[in-house]
Amino acid sequence: PEANKGYSYEDCKATADWLLAQTDVRPTVGIVCGSGLGGLADMLKDQVAFNYKDIPNFPQSTVHGHAGRLVFGTLKGRPCVCMQGRFHLYEEQFAVKSITLPMRIFKLLGVETVMLTNAAGGLNQDFKVGDIMIIKDHLNMPGFAGNNPLSGPNDERFGVRFPCMSDAYDRELQQLAMDVGQELGYGDFLREGVYCVLGGPSFETIAECRMLHKLGADAVGMSTVHEVIIARHCGMRVFALSLITNQAVMDYDSEEKANHEEVLQTGRQRAQQLERLVSTMVTRIEHN
Ligand code: 6GU
Repeated sequence: PEANKGYSYEDCKATADWLLAQTDVRPTVGIVCGSGLGGLADMLKDQVAFNYKDIPNFPQSTVHGHAGRLVFGTLKGRPCVCMQGRFHLYEEQFAVKSITLPMRIFKLLGVETVMLTNAAGGLNQDFKVGDIMIIKDHLNMPGFAGNNPLSGPNDERFGVRFPCMSDAYDRELQQLAMDVGQELGYGDFLREGVYCVLGGPSFETIAECRMLHKLGADAVGMSTVHEVIIARHCGMRVFALSLITNQAVMDYDSEEKANHEEVLQTGRQRAQQLERLVSTMVTRIEHN
């Protein structure tokens, strides 16, 4: 997009209409797959898939572990659209605007509920690698520095200038996740907590991890929050999960080092359970 203006309502509408003309699927649920968690998209039946590079206006994802496809289909009969690969703040200079576009396209496609997954580092000392954390709230660190995806002119067709964020993560969906998780026997590794987003792409220093932990963060990552803000702004319900792929390093004696391979590796180990949790939830979400 031009400078920091982002995409206009008309740009978003044109892309949504282009997509709607090519598929009969009318999704009410939109899913965003985190690093190493793209398998969720492969669960969709009767797929109609688009490479990001073929979709008008669509940004490209450049990160290893992110496929870069928008997949329409049904999950146990429910029409869904799934982003297999997402955009991160660190990918390009105006990335915060590229992140907004898919959420607004979701809205214009008719999506009412957005479900997001990510890979995150655990700050909470009770968490273990492989835990699934239901996100109940966030800390938007880039936002503190003025890098909010809603910065710039506001288009009232999407939402209000000053949207509330104290109810960003839908309580009913959090409860549903807990209920479904218990039923599936995931109780031992299902947690809830606060997700903190940083700009990345470098991982945190030890001092930064200690600071974030003191500030109330249970997990740290490089995504999700921007999408949540845009999704809430235009009135979609939001549910989000973090897979704790590694423990953030909190002390100077530790030999551990955060690395992308470990993130992908843990993703592969827990992916099926995470996919099952999300897909079962989808079958129980009621829409008007
Ligand atoms: Cl430790 N930090 C950040 N910022 N993102 C992550 C992570 C850590 N682990 C997975 N994603």
